[in-house]
Amino acid sequence: MIDFLGDWKRTDYCGDLGVKHEGREVILMGWVQRRRDHGGVIFIDLRDRAGLAQVVFNPEVAPETHERAGAIRSEWVLAVRGKVRKRPEGMVNPDMKTGEVEVMVDDLRILNVSDNPPFTVEDRIEVAENMRLKYRYLDLRRPSLQRNFWLRYQATKAIREYFDDQGFIEIETPFLTRSTPEGARDYLVPSRVNPGSFYALPQSPQLFKQILMVAGFDRYFQIVKCFRDEDLRMDRQPEFTQIDVEMSFATVEDIQKLMSELMIHLFHRVMGIEVEAPFPTLTYREAMDRFGTDRPDIRFGMELEEITPITQRSEFSVFREALGSGGVVKGLRVEGSPLSRKEIEELPSTVEGFSSTGLLWARVNSDGWVSPVKKFLKPNQMKEIEKSMDAKPGDLLLFVADRSDVANDSIGRVRNYLGKKLGLIDDSRYRFAWIIEFPLLEYDEAEKRYVAVHHPFTAPMDEDVDKLDTDPEAVRAKAYDIVLNGAEVGGGSIRNHRQDIQERVFEKLGIGREEARRRFGFLMEALSYGAPPHGGIAFGFDRLVMIMSHSESIRDVIAFPKTQRATDLMAGAPSSIDQDQLKELFIKITKIK
Ligand code: AMO
Ligand code: AMP
Repeated sequence: MIDFLGDWKRTDYCGDLGVKHEGREVILMGWVQRRRDHGGVIFIDLRDRAGLAQVVFNPEVAPETHERAGAIRSEWVLAVRGKVRKRPEGMVNPDMKTGEVEVMVDDLRILNVSDNPPFTVEDRIEVAENMRLKYRYLDLRRPSLQRNFWLRYQATKAIREYFDDQGFIEIETPFLTRSTPEGARDYLVPSRVNPGSFYALPQSPQLFKQILMVAGFDRYFQIVKCFRDEDLRMDRQPEFTQIDVEMSFATVEDIQKLMSELMIHLFHRVMGIEVEAPFPTLTYREAMDRFGTDRPDIRFGMELEEITPITQRSEFSVFREALGSGGVVKGLRVEGSPLSRKEIEELPSTVEGFSSTGLLWARVNSDGWVSPVKKFLKPNQMKEIEKSMDAKPGDLLLFVADRSDVANDSIGRVRNYLGKKLGLIDDSRYRFAWIIEFPLLEYDEAEKRYVAVHHPFTAPMDEDVDKLDTDPEAVRAKAYDIVLNGAEVGGGSIRNHRQDIQERVFEKLGIGREEARRRFGFLMEALSYGAPPHGGIAFGFDRLVMIMSHSESIRDVIAFPKTQRATDLMAGAPSSIDQDQLKELFIKITKIK
């Protein structure tokens, strides 16, 4: 009952058919979306990568073919031959791209049958993601996912085109290598020929791309897989793709300019969109002050205000406690707020990640505040706050009093939440911003030492080098992030090409000479053979495509992604391995309690 393809050649994609094909004989090949029997006539929507076409089996036109069509089920693979005709009056389907035409089938080849699929292959389905991932090939047949991968492919093409025009060379770097310090755990691979030794899969090509600069390549890029064993979230995967870049003799501004133009080119070529440029540059400090985060969504205003000075004289316990321990009071003004009291009071529990001890609120009316803390504040303090925040009747003021990092983070999250909830964000906009002058180091309370904010090869700003010894936390780095619609889509830095400064940074990070030699000796050695000044950046390519395609999860732009638990449900990885394989690797698995 299954036919051979034989000598049939496809003439068109289903989804491309239109009135211009009227009267033409076509051969289509694809999958059965659905079959409907209507009083003797059978309609099948046939799907291929371009879309759907309605094909019609009429017993009066081709009785035998019609009879065979009766047995056809969803996801069977068919080839049909027939004439394209305009659909009769009243039968046109305006919701379907090819809805004006249909194919009157005169011959059919059933190329394969299909088991009953565990879910219907269409976009508006409610299926548990685990099911989608297990039957990924069915999931990938859905039009929205097909579109995502076309977009992704177009994007890689546009990126390569841009780098090529700019004189960059793409060079591959090893996957079986040593640990690279991007701050996550490594994935390790045992070496059979070197018993007891392990490779690490690269968290990024960081060290190799720097060495390519020492090697004189001057402008390098690579679209490359990176591997990080870290806790997964909606925008993180254990293996993900970077657009990785390194340049010699370049300044922060040079890199910003070239990479801004890369993004402009990408959006222009792939989506026909002229993104708003130039991209604003904010210092890290400014971003924290104005948005409470180093990845601000600048598609909307509602910036944060600091009212610490006004609250300094207040006797209100919440303010006193926060300020007493060096904290701040930061707030935002929701213009003409439509939020109900209940919605306001539930904000701390609804806003994901809100970590302050509370959220103060005040509704400003023409006759004064409605607020649970009205009784703790003096009238002139309320007036001062109103003035400083430019509040008008009908506005809602929200405040957090806490340690500066907690206050910023919490109120920044409230801002993002309300931006979405109140419809302040125009989803069709793409707003990039650069964040520069990150701190070089931060103190890790758990490890009781400084760690690199970006990575240990990042250069301090020239004017701050001397503070390395006197005031390490004040040292700013030649590091930058590029942010799109509130997501960090890339980050990089100018590196320490001078061995002496690199050693001073290592020293601050508590990486001794011996450890540096052991972990990145090859880089240190390379730096001693005439390393040019250099720097670079890496974009999270999956994240970019996720935003470009308006996908909700990074998994929707990765063909075979992993679950939250880092498993591949389709292939069944990771899995246990044979005793023989373990033996070869000199590995023994012991039960872990
Ligand atoms: P960084 O660690 O900031 O820099 O990574 C660069 C970008 O990669 C993306 N990204 C991820 N995307 C998906 N899943 C993940 N697990 C994941 N982790 C990171 C982010 C991030 O901005 N070697 C440096 C770059 C450099 O200095 O040139 C690096 O890897 O979008
Ligand atoms: P409490 O004294 O804990 O009952 O809090 C009184 C009010 O202050 C409540 O509305 C809390 O949500 C709010 N609040 C408590 N701590 C903070 C804080 N750190 N920042 C802002 N508001 C707070």
